[in-house]
Amino acid sequence: MAIRVTFLLVMLVVLPFPSHSADPDPLQDFCVGILNDTSASINGFPCKPTSQVTSDDFFFDGLTKEGNTDNVFGFTATVGNVLAFPGLNTLGLSMNRVDFAPGGLNPPHSHPRATETGVVIKGKLYVGFLTTNNVLHAKVLTVGEMFVVPRGLVHFQMNVGKEKAMTITAFNSHLPGTVVLPTTLFASMPPIPNNVLTKAFQVEASVIDDIKAKFGS
Ligand code: GLV
Ligand code: MN
Repeated sequence: MAIRVTFLLVMLVVLPFPSHSADPDPLQDFCVGILNDTSASINGFPCKPTSQVTSDDFFFDGLTKEGNTDNVFGFTATVGNVLAFPGLNTLGLSMNRVDFAPGGLNPPHSHPRATETGVVIKGKLYVGFLTTNNVLHAKVLTVGEMFVVPRGLVHFQMNVGKEKAMTITAFNSHLPGTVVLPTTLFASMPPIPNNVLTKAFQVEASVIDDIKAKFGS
């Protein structure tokens, strides 16, 4: 009985507070970020004074150019987040352009602060994400088809066509954050000790050294 009353009291205290699944709502029309102002530590960047805001603050051409895919993965994500486009500051959204060479892979990664959606603009992509129960949801998508990756889940895209491919992705955060599994695990600074990784992956240290060497650490 006492437990039930305590539970009810806890629910009464907690329920009135709304939970936010992404960035908080803005408190003004806009807050063009001043990225290099470190005088205050706030949730987002300080706002440029309205008198100094110009139309240019609300336009961004950073996603117009094809990214260079000449790297081990054969892909490049060009980001349109608050760091590249300060006009997005506090507005709770951002976009990427992801280019793929034939066979290119956007390796397994996750975004701790955002759900991602995307549309294939060019080519054919094998797109997938994994649930927290290790279930893979994946499909080959062609031009115009969309996908969604629930917040924080590990996902990837691979170009399975013969030509280049490209997708535009969108996020419900001005700075979704990206944890790229291969580089997080094998190229961190300082490195994760080998005995952690040999135990985690059940392989010899030489295998871990080989993978670390590929990522330059
Ligand atoms: C694709 O997964 C992206 O993060 O843009
Ligand atoms: Mn992603």
